[in-house]
Amino acid sequence: SLTVPSVQEIVMNDSQSVPERYIREHKDRPLVSQIFPASLEIPIIDFSLLAKGDEHERRKLDLACKEWGFFQITNHGVEEEILHKMKAAVAAFFELPLEEKKKYAMAANDIQGYGQAYVVSEQQKLDWCDMIFLITLPPENRNFKFWPLTLPGFREAMEVYTKEVQIVAEEIYANISLLMGMDRDGLRRLQGELKQCMRMNYYPACSRPDLVLGVSPHSDGSSLTLLLQDYEITGLQIKHKEEWIPVKPIPNSLVVNIGDVVEILSNGMYKSIEHRAITNEKKARISIATIALPDEELEIGPLDTMVDDHRCPRMYKKVKYVDYIRQFLARKLEGKAHTDLVKIENK
Ligand code: SIN
Ligand code: FE2
Repeated sequence: SLTVPSVQEIVMNDSQSVPERYIREHKDRPLVSQIFPASLEIPIIDFSLLAKGDEHERRKLDLACKEWGFFQITNHGVEEEILHKMKAAVAAFFELPLEEKKKYAMAANDIQGYGQAYVVSEQQKLDWCDMIFLITLPPENRNFKFWPLTLPGFREAMEVYTKEVQIVAEEIYANISLLMGMDRDGLRRLQGELKQCMRMNYYPACSRPDLVLGVSPHSDGSSLTLLLQDYEITGLQIKHKEEWIPVKPIPNSLVVNIGDVVEILSNGMYKSIEHRAITNEKKARISIATIALPDEELEIGPLDTMVDDHRCPRMYKKVKYVDYIRQFLARKLEGKAHTDLVKIENK
């Protein structure tokens, strides 16, 4: 990836500055003060009911995955204090002086470290966001070169949160497995060794939120993504029925979305939905995306049980996950679902 300036630094030097490279084409600019009806809020799932095997809640999950691809979970069992410590650790990292943060800078051809995501050309529009990306599971895949280990509490907060959020992810896998006609362990078996990464985003306040995007539209290349976000500031928007609608944070909840892998495995029954983040004038926003992934050597393709030659023909080619991700990373975010990469054109 190319080196671009820290947005946080741009704002620190001049809070009114919005360099040309961040200013979007008219058609891509967000409507920042649009009002939305409550009927356009993503579904809320009570995780504690799912974990108890409640069938009604599982059907709600099914609908959420089909119609929205996004939902918020409450009662997920991760203690408030753990969430708080995680957010505080990320905030403390971004508060470090630039020179200190740069010690963990993303290297060329690496996905880990401090920097910006998906910078593939000098021409592309840039996101109003700085981030640090770390591989978290399995533990032996961690590269501590990129971890700010001298920052008090950072490693501990990460380790605790990583473990807790993975339990939540696996319970959701179990429920989706049941909904896809498998036993609870189905998705787990199919995905080989489960992997996890953490993308920690820092969106500085922006004097012109109407001109920029925090994160360009994209769908996630993950199996599932679980987002811990600022509960006071709305930033995430999802594309629903051709409209960008905001995800209003619910305190202590997590936002979960279906990633491309589950879309492909389900032969398109569940959708990996395009989303983006917008910025605001008042306050920096932090979000922490836990990215749950399959083993990279795994071949992913629609499950035979999800394909029916008459009613639902096979929609995606089989692809080795590592090859999928490689293509994914090479493309600029273009607002198109990345699953297009493997889509079969059915007549
Ligand atoms: C993301 O999609 O990676 C982040 C979205 C957000 O910050 O809300
Ligand atoms: Fe995302």
